[in-house]
Amino acid sequence: MTIFLTGSTGFLGGKLLNNLLETTDHTLFVLVRDMDKAEKLVAGLSGNAADRIKLLTGDITQPLCGLSDDAIQDLKGNVDLFYHIAALVKFDEELRDEIFKVNYDGTENALELAKAFGVERFFYISTAYTVGKRTHGVEALYPIDKDVHNPYEESKVKSEHLALSYSEHMDISIFRPSIIVGDSETGEADSEFTLYGFMRALDVFKRRIARSADTADIVYHVIGSKESTSNLVPVNYVADILALAARKAEAGKIYNITNPSPATNYALLSLIKNALDFNQLEIIENAEPGMLTADEEKLNGMISIFNAYLCRSFNFDDSNTRKLIEGTDVNHLVMDEQTTRLIIEAYFDV
Ligand SMILES: NC(=O)c1ccc[n+]([C@@H]2O[C@H](COP(=O)([O-])OP(=O)(O)OC[C@H]3O[C@@H](n4cnc5c(N)ncnc54)[C@H](OP(=O)(O)O)[C@@H]3O)[C@@H](O)[C@H]2O)c1
Repeated sequence: MTIFLTGSTGFLGGKLLNNLLETTDHTLFVLVRDMDKAEKLVAGLSGNAADRIKLLTGDITQPLCGLSDDAIQDLKGNVDLFYHIAALVKFDEELRDEIFKVNYDGTENALELAKAFGVERFFYISTAYTVGKRTHGVEALYPIDKDVHNPYEESKVKSEHLALSYSEHMDISIFRPSIIVGDSETGEADSEFTLYGFMRALDVFKRRIARSADTADIVYHVIGSKESTSNLVPVNYVADILALAARKAEAGKIYNITNPSPATNYALLSLIKNALDFNQLEIIENAEPGMLTADEEKLNGMISIFNAYLCRSFNFDDSNTRKLIEGTDVNHLVMDEQTTRLIIEAYFDV
């Protein structure tokens, strides 16, 4: 197979690239915007893997991802499958225009490029959080409405609709991972976003208060729900499913790649507190005005973009994914406390 990928210099895309190199003999055309970064990635590969990667400079915010006519002509009729993984994984309202430019316009440019190649199959990597403010995630499109927490979710909801609107040109499948975390075997993660953004903020806060005298006995409250859960999925599980999808995904289907028994936020925060050696953190359900100290206000401000996810639980139907992995060597996810601890401790280098 000849496969074209965007986003392979990123956390998930890098893992998928390695997986495809190790488990298949496909040729991989990889769109990169930073050739130096990509060449370093290729230089780190072992054996003849590098010979199966062809790097192409481009940018998904440009029409046809900025590829030249010659490059497009070369690949016309020769690409079997297109993985569109590249995105901006930021949630901030102030970044709305940039988020839409990369995530929505970028998806349109990727779809147009795939169409120009005459690609047969296009995989769009979305997020389970297109579920927005609903609490039950299904493996179907959600309506385009205002029921979302942030421009990231909104850009992904709209991009899913856009992707499926190209179904007359190619077979479209959509994959929706929940919160992607480190490798379940090594804990390793090349990410600054989602859980990693949250952990970094707690780390920064801990260092900040350590500069003031007499803070050792103070408890700092994080607003959230103890009983609600955070849906984490290891990056290697997601990559295994995306690699398998090249053989088994069905056209028009949506696959939730989610955790069937996610940990509670209380359990998760306990693991983070231990790894960070910062036992002064506690979750409270809500705070009346004036109840939080100035430091607590600061702390909750630093993690405010995660608040929507800390305060509620989502449950996701992943029947299509379970069917996809049935009878293969990819097992349905069981993420126990030990694995979660390994992943969290790897971040804090414990
Ligand atoms: N991380 C999560 O928890 C999570 C959860 C659910 C879904 N997802 C989805 O999974 C996908 C991958 O996420 P990730 O965590 O791996 O993100 P990431 O580490 O930030 O990687 C993003 C990738 O997109 C590329 N990219 C960004 N803007 C681009 C542009 N204008 N042109 C070309 N390439 C561009 C980046 O290239 P550079 O290396 O040049 O920056 C990088 O390769 C995204 O679609 C995301 O929405 C992520």
